[in-house]
Amino acid sequence: MKNKKTFMWLLLSLLVLTGCGSSRPVQTEEIENEDAGKIVVGFSQLGAESDWRSANTASMKEAFGDGTGYSLVFKDGQQKQTNQITAIRTFIQQDVDYIVLAPVMESGWDSVLTEAKQADIPVILVDRMVDVADRSLYSCWVGSDFELEGKKVCEWLHQYTLAKGIAPEDLHIVDLQGTFGSTAQLGRSRGLNEAALEHGWDIVALKDADFTQEKGREVMAQLLREYHNINVVYCENDNEAIGAIKAIEAAGLKAGADIENGEIMVLSFDGINEEALSYMAQGKIACIGECNPHHGPRVEALIQSIEDGGIPEKFNYVEESIFSTIKEVTTITVDGQQYTVANPFDN
Ligand code: AHR
Repeated sequence: MKNKKTFMWLLLSLLVLTGCGSSRPVQTEEIENEDAGKIVVGFSQLGAESDWRSANTASMKEAFGDGTGYSLVFKDGQQKQTNQITAIRTFIQQDVDYIVLAPVMESGWDSVLTEAKQADIPVILVDRMVDVADRSLYSCWVGSDFELEGKKVCEWLHQYTLAKGIAPEDLHIVDLQGTFGSTAQLGRSRGLNEAALEHGWDIVALKDADFTQEKGREVMAQLLREYHNINVVYCENDNEAIGAIKAIEAAGLKAGADIENGEIMVLSFDGINEEALSYMAQGKIACIGECNPHHGPRVEALIQSIEDGGIPEKFNYVEESIFSTIKEVTTITVDGQQYTVANPFDN
């Protein structure tokens, strides 16, 4: 357990900003008094690409922001790993008590996390994982089982086809993938790939749509021009799904589960986006694998357990549901575990 840092770095940065102490010394004292004794958390958020991400940032700011026992230094990486690496180096220079990292992708973290370890600053990973040779470079991780999310949505699709008597070879699926190399993309793409191999589904194309609505629209529009047999689009998040639906409708087609009559079935992940949920209510999104963004209190609990001298579990998975309004499939079983398919509009 590390001692809480003084706020010398804040004082120093403000002195630099205010012209080396020549003006406004009062401001620096206020910040020192306000934050003295608090645990300083440097949070490198990967970006603001989706509604899920905004909800995740809000959860972190609520847990560590004003009125808490913490002082939060927040940096938005704008979807660039280089920005996140710079942020971590800044946190090290500032000698924060904890570094919390939501990494944009899995690879490329060995050097900077070694620097954090050498500076004796515990690193907590949130949401996505890192692929490093030495796992002692981070204390612990909390987030979703993305592959399980993918498996659940694919099992829902499998059960739907059984209930409707649709032959597996009649499914022509495109995968709008998330940010390439991120844990969410790798897990969800793997879930689909394995199900397609197992059931004999036709994967028409896989394309990176970067978890954004605009990219989802653009990529789907292009795929619809290129292929005329697509009847399922597996969107790796809700923002992509919203974009895909806009592209489907702009092409004069219909998003819906009635694929035997020409509709294109939209599958998705997250379940936090209001517009996506309203599309589900209208029957335009068939199934959403829940991805829970509310990690602030979970990260806070991990920090508290380290503060109390404990060693938290290395990997902390969040339990998640699966959503659909379609009556044909009420439960699914994945890896021996049964899940109820929840209708998000039931009271
Ligand atoms: O890593 C979690 C994923 O990242 C969410 O599914 C997506 O919406 C976000 O951008």
